[in-house]
Amino acid sequence: MVQAHSRIYGSGFVTGEVLVPNERMTMICDTTSEWIRERSGIEQRYFVNEGTGTSDLALGAAHKALANAGWQASEVDYIVVATMTPDYYFPGVASLVQAKLGIGNVPSLDIRQQCSGFVYGLQVCDAFIRAGVAKKILFIGAEIHSGFMPFSKHGWDVVMGRSNEPVTQEERDWNSKFRHLTVLFGDAAGAICVGTTDDPKRGILGFALHSDGKDFESLYVPSAGFKYRPYYSEEHIREGRFVPVMEGRNVFKMAVTKMPEAVHEVLAKCELKLDDVNLLIPHQANLRISEGVQKQLKLGDDRIYNNIQRYGNTTAATIPIAYDECKKSGKVKQGDLVAFCGLGAGFHWGAALMRE
Ligand code: UT7
Repeated sequence: MVQAHSRIYGSGFVTGEVLVPNERMTMICDTTSEWIRERSGIEQRYFVNEGTGTSDLALGAAHKALANAGWQASEVDYIVVATMTPDYYFPGVASLVQAKLGIGNVPSLDIRQQCSGFVYGLQVCDAFIRAGVAKKILFIGAEIHSGFMPFSKHGWDVVMGRSNEPVTQEERDWNSKFRHLTVLFGDAAGAICVGTTDDPKRGILGFALHSDGKDFESLYVPSAGFKYRPYYSEEHIREGRFVPVMEGRNVFKMAVTKMPEAVHEVLAKCELKLDDVNLLIPHQANLRISEGVQKQLKLGDDRIYNNIQRYGNTTAATIPIAYDECKKSGKVKQGDLVAFCGLGAGFHWGAALMRE
């Protein structure tokens, strides 16, 4: 008898309400569309209007994934949300989504694995299904990065296309201190429905996950932590310590090394070969990172999927959004072997393998 395991039954995503092309970012800091496109591949991103929370985006993506799976919200027996940008410091987003869905008091869980949130969360869902803890899990990756951006109210009006009046030189200088980071990120949520199956030909096959905290300062948010008393201060805001610190080159190097390693590792664990993989869906941090991973793995252009050009880096949401696009466009078909991989703050990284 085949052991019950998990497979994806449906997917969906939503973005922030406002499309922001690179040109708008050039109006508030010293950057150019060409720099952003050449160094990262990004052409545009979406930001939410102030007042929209990560749980709202998560809810939108959840409704779409549920409809796609043909599941009623009331059938869901567990909610898992991967996010590093919750509505509130606590509680997390999963219980807010549970309440907004208007379903019963099912358990809900937040995980904080940043850009590897999807591969980590997928393992959590798969393990719950295999252990018989749950049968129909709603798993969402959702982020609102615009809250990290240190722009003034007027700066935001310019970014969002509501004003063309230039920001002051002082503000431009301030914003430019963070330009290597602010141009990369967008707001969005992607969701999948992970359910139980006993079909031996389909489902999640395995994982290769890792962490190494020794270099956490290459990518972290220095403020709003309980190492400080109080955990949040005016000084932190004045110094812009609520904006992530990112040593881009370090992160880049880690990503192009660790993601291919993890793909090889998960394939070996599942006794499969790189040639068997129909499609790799990597976390979308930078098109140049994806190209580096593609080169390391010697994959043709038709065996890797990228969409960072249109959304920027949406952290835990990138892979479910890309997966949904691949499913709906027919790029992922039943029987295909699909690999996912990601690396992010922590550092955490890893890969997952699935037979569609
Ligand atoms: O999902 C995990 C999250 N983060 C990442 O994955 C980030 C990974 N790293 C990267 O994507 C890249 O390292 C970046 C896109 C962040 C930067 O690209 P880079 O090719 O590594 O550039 P760099 O940091 O070495 O900077 C090159 C130059 C510098 O100027 P100088 O010192 O050569 O005069 C920067 O000051 O580019 C400058 N620069 C910019 N110029 C225009 C940095 N950001 C910008 C910008 N616009 N937005």
